[in-house]
Amino acid sequence: MGGGIFGGGELLNRGLEKKSQSNILGIDIIIKYGIINCEILIKLSLGQEFSMNYPNKDDIYFHPELKEVIFLKNIITDPNISVGDYTYHHSFDDPLAFEKHVRYNFMNDKLIIGKFCAIAHGIRFLMNGANHKTEGFSTYPFLICPGSWSEKMSLEDLPNKGNITIGNDVWLGMNVTIMSGVTIGDGAIVGTRSLVTKDVPPYTVVGGNPATIIRQRFSDKVIAQLLELKWWDWDIQKITDNIPFLFNYDEEKLQELIDRENVISLTKKVLQELGFNSHS
Ligand SMILES: CC(C)(COP(=O)(O)OP(=O)(O)OC[C@H]1O[C@@H](n2cnc3c(N)ncnc32)[C@H](O)[C@@H]1OP(=O)(O)O)[C@@H](O)C(=O)NCCC(=O)NCCS
Repeated sequence: MGGGIFGGGELLNRGLEKKSQSNILGIDIIIKYGIINCEILIKLSLGQEFSMNYPNKDDIYFHPELKEVIFLKNIITDPNISVGDYTYHHSFDDPLAFEKHVRYNFMNDKLIIGKFCAIAHGIRFLMNGANHKTEGFSTYPFLICPGSWSEKMSLEDLPNKGNITIGNDVWLGMNVTIMSGVTIGDGAIVGTRSLVTKDVPPYTVVGGNPATIIRQRFSDKVIAQLLELKWWDWDIQKITDNIPFLFNYDEEKLQELIDRENVISLTKKVLQELGFNSHS
């Protein structure tokens, strides 16, 4: 153990002294998980050293030599489109032209895409401007014609099905089309050439036209745990350290990480109550 550990131990002792003077929760946890907490305390109190041995989320290109793939958020100019860190877009033609694939985008509806999504070539988002009114005798959009026709209809007369929301860690296969109003849950997979007309639950594989459920990726319990874990919100060093965990399937390790996260959040709470500032 290096000096940092002793520093953490001192902090822990100071914390315990302070703690014993007040009656807030956490003392059992600190004793029970003493070793983990020393480690956590050091990270919380002294901050963590980063090696920067991972891609820079603020670069346009995912890899300097791979010009077909970009970190999407860095090229978005439309305020109605938001994209999370590390989500990438691949296109054989022009990955920078992503906004052209967000079609009929003039109704001020939103396209919200989470972190760590993989968006393959040929994606199409059909925003609400694509919707003609279907209840009337004619679907013809008189609104867009010049002259008096446009005065007899307004944009509000057109159906608005809501925003398109794509969760985190979603894989959208090649040539997928997503209709307005659809929400795709975290960890979902949309198979190639799918037309998604309805919401997709988290960690579910869908495919076809219209896209239907092919299978749920994991048990209900594991899905609930992954949704609790929200690994995509971890700091990048922690994600880097846990890539083998993320890339494999290990229920025991998942449970271990959930327990650890619970200890961390409780520790943060205790430290806050004790008046320590947290860096993470
Ligand atoms: C959806 C996908 C991930 C499923 O892969 P998988 O889990 O290995 O599933 P399988 O190939 O065993 O197929 C399972 C079932 O789904 C069906 N299916 C697979 N892909 C489908 C698709 N795109 N649309 C409709 N049905 C599909 C299969 O016909 C099969 O049906 P069955 O159970 O009735 O026989 C895969 O087929 C796919 O589309 N991947 C996207 C590839 C891509 O676009 N990559 C771009 C570069 S990132």
